[in-house]
Amino acid sequence: MAGGVVVSAAGGKTYPGRMTAFVFFTCLVASSGGLIFGYDIGISGGVTSMDSFLKQFFPSVYAQAEASKDANQYCKFNSQLLTLFTSSLYLAALATSFVAASVTRVFGRKWSMFCGGITFLVGSALNGAATDVLMLILGRILLGIGVGFANQSVPLYLSEMAPAKLRGMLNIGFQLMTTIGILAANLINYATVGIEGGWGWRVGLGLAGVPALVITIGALALPDTPNSLIARGYNDDAKAVLVKIRGTDDVHDEYDDMVAASEEAAAVAHPWRNILERKYRPQLTVAVLIPMFQQLTGINVIMFYAPVLFLTIGFGDDASLMSAVITGLVNMFATIVSIVSVDRLGRRALFLQGGTQMFISQIVVGTLIALQFGTAGVGEMSRSNAMLLVLFICLYVAGFAWSWGPLGWLVPSEVFSLEIRSAGQSIAVCVNMTLTFIIGQAFLSMLCTFKFGLFYFFAGWMFVMTAFIALFLPETKGVAIEEMHLVWSQHWFWGKYVNGDGDGSRHGGGNRRMNG
Ligand code: BGC
Repeated sequence: MAGGVVVSAAGGKTYPGRMTAFVFFTCLVASSGGLIFGYDIGISGGVTSMDSFLKQFFPSVYAQAEASKDANQYCKFNSQLLTLFTSSLYLAALATSFVAASVTRVFGRKWSMFCGGITFLVGSALNGAATDVLMLILGRILLGIGVGFANQSVPLYLSEMAPAKLRGMLNIGFQLMTTIGILAANLINYATVGIEGGWGWRVGLGLAGVPALVITIGALALPDTPNSLIARGYNDDAKAVLVKIRGTDDVHDEYDDMVAASEEAAAVAHPWRNILERKYRPQLTVAVLIPMFQQLTGINVIMFYAPVLFLTIGFGDDASLMSAVITGLVNMFATIVSIVSVDRLGRRALFLQGGTQMFISQIVVGTLIALQFGTAGVGEMSRSNAMLLVLFICLYVAGFAWSWGPLGWLVPSEVFSLEIRSAGQSIAVCVNMTLTFIIGQAFLSMLCTFKFGLFYFFAGWMFVMTAFIALFLPETKGVAIEEMHLVWSQHWFWGKYVNGDGDGSRHGGGNRRMNG
C-alpha cells in the first residue's frame, strides 16, 4: 500500500503525484479571492487623496489640508474620521473571521469563499453609489465581511489542494492576486482622478464589484478540498478529487492519512479550547506572531498612504499616484520571485533575506526624511532626494513581496493539524486584521507625533522579527501537511512542548504511520 511513498528530508512523507492542469486551475480560481483583498488595499489610499472625494465626504479634512499646505508636512492629513474610512473594513474582517471558521469547517471551504464574494459585491455597490459617510462606512463594513471570509478560506483551500512540494508556490497565488488587486486599484485611481465632475472615486469604489464577481462565480465552480470532504463524510468524492488533483490513481496512502487525520480531528469537539493546549503552543505562537509581525513591517503605511505620503514629500497630484503605481508594480513582480523560489530555497531563507533588506531600507527612508524635513516638518524635498526615497521605498516593498507578504499567509495556513486548522487560520486572520486596523488608524497621527522616527520604529520591529525567524521558525518546505507535526517535534525549542508528557496521540499516530 505504501506504493510510491518516500520519506522526505524533513523526516515526513512525500506522496506520489504531480502538478496537474486541474489543480493549477482550481488554485488559480481560488486565488482570485486575493483580488478583492488587494483591490481594497489599493483603492482607499488613492480615493482618500482625491480632492473631490474629500470635499464631498470629509470637508473639514480638505479644509485642513488646504490650510496647512505650507505648514508641517507630517500632520497635513491627520484625521481620525478619514482613517476610519480606510480601517473600518479591517475591523469587520476580523470579527467575521470567527464566523468564517465555522462555515469553513461545517459547510466546506468553497462556501466560505462564496459568502466572501457575495457580501463583497453588495459592499462595492453601496460604496460606488454612496451619498453620505454612513453609506460609505456601511459599504466598507460589507467589504470587510467579504475579506474576512475570503482570507480565512482561500489560504487554507490552497494549502490543502496543493501537493506538498509545490504548496508554497500554489499558496502564494493568493498573495500574487492580492498584489494584482492593489496594482489594478492604483491604475484605476490614476485613471479616474482627473474625471470631469469629480466622480472618479465612484468608478474606483464601484469597480470592486468586478473581482467580487470573479470569486463568487469561481467558488460555485470549484470542488472542495479532499480534507474538507472527508471531514464532512464525503469520502468517495474526496478520493475522486484527490485522484484528479494528483494526476495518479496511487493516492491510497495520502488518502488513508487524511482519513486518519480526520478521525482524530472528529474526536476534537472544541477546536478553540484545544488550540490552547500545550502541545499546540508552537502552532499557536506562529498563528499569532507571524501575522502580527507581517503588519509590524509597516507595509500598509506604504500601501494605504503612498499617495498621501508622496504628496507630503512634495510630488504633485498625478506624480503621487504614479509613484503608487510604481510601488504596485514592484510589489507584483517581486512576489513572482517568491513563487519560483519558496519551494526550493525554503521559507526561512526568504524571511531572513527579505527581512534584512527591509530593515536597511526603513533606516534609509527614515534618514532621508529626517535630513529633509527635520523635526519641524517644513521644507520641500529636492528632486534627487525624492528619487532616492522612491528607490528605497521600492527596495523595501520588493523585500516584503518575496518574504513577509506571501509567507505571512502561507506559513500559518500550513502549520496546523486538521483538528485545529480552521480555528488556527481564523486566529491568523484576526491578528492580521487587528494590526492592519491599528496601524491604518494610527498611522497619520503617529507620523504627526513620531515624524521620521516612525520609520525607525518599524525598522526596530524588523530586527525583532528577523531574529524570531532565525531562532524559532522551523523550515516547512516540502513537508506534507498531515506530517507537519514532525517539524515541530524535531525543533530545538518547540520539541519539548510537542514531545512532552506523551500528550498527543496525533503525534504518536503520525510517527506510527510514517514508520509503518
Ligand atoms: C498583507 C497586506 C498588504 C499586502 C501588500 C498582504 O500580504 O496582508 O496587509 O497590504 O500584502 O501586498
